[in-house]
Amino acid sequence: MQCLPGEEKNSAQSAQFSRAAVLDLSPGQAGRMRAPDIDLICEAFAEVVDAKSHFTFRHSVGVTDAASAIGKAMGLKAERQQLLHRAALLHDLGKLRVPNSILDKPGKLDGDEWAVMKEHPALTRAILDRVTQFRELAYVAGAHHEKLDGSGYPDNLHAEALPLEARILAVADMYGALIEDRPYRNGFSAEQALGIMQRDAGGKLDDDCFAALSSVADTIRPSAAAEASSAPSGQPAPKLVKPVDSKPSMSIAS
Ligand SMILES: [Fe+2]
Repeated sequence: MQCLPGEEKNSAQSAQFSRAAVLDLSPGQAGRMRAPDIDLICEAFAEVVDAKSHFTFRHSVGVTDAASAIGKAMGLKAERQQLLHRAALLHDLGKLRVPNSILDKPGKLDGDEWAVMKEHPALTRAILDRVTQFRELAYVAGAHHEKLDGSGYPDNLHAEALPLEARILAVADMYGALIEDRPYRNGFSAEQALGIMQRDAGGKLDDDCFAALSSVADTIRPSAAAEASSAPSGQPAPKLVKPVDSKPSMSIAS
């Protein structure tokens, strides 16, 4: 699906404003950045990450929409909602270090490739951790593949080490990954995705966060799901090699 002319313009304007926000800052002004400017910069980096692969086009933005909707449904305070929003935008920053030969591989990743893929959350955290004001955000973003039972990665963290925002982000990220196309399968419908996630709710995924997602799934911006699997304007849509399978047979790369 191609962007409509108006959408292209909005995206271009957004990127332009983001660049301007960065360029307007002299080193001496860095400590006085306004929150909206920080948000714009986070959005700009999310666009860079999403543009790396056809299959992750709009992934960061779609996950952010889902995470924000879940956070709102769970009554997060504005300050926590802001942290969640930024962590969602930047959660896959580490994927900039993952080669496209892995991200776009039309088949199952081998052991070495999967090991590289699994490094990306730690890379995200390492990058963001350099910014003092982003320390907590770095932890939340870097934990988006962790599971409550310790079966996630990169650190096999357990429930007690996973704050609410990280649990919400894990749920939003899995939902986003399931509804998007991947090189080895088409995207699932919202209903199918929730059915798959239900199996992990309460064990690997936070039950309350999953319940909140279920309650807002039909209100999450439809374009986030529809556009998530669409190639950027002017580029041919990638050819999928496998039809929808209601039982995913491999780990969910998100
Ligand atoms: Fe990820």
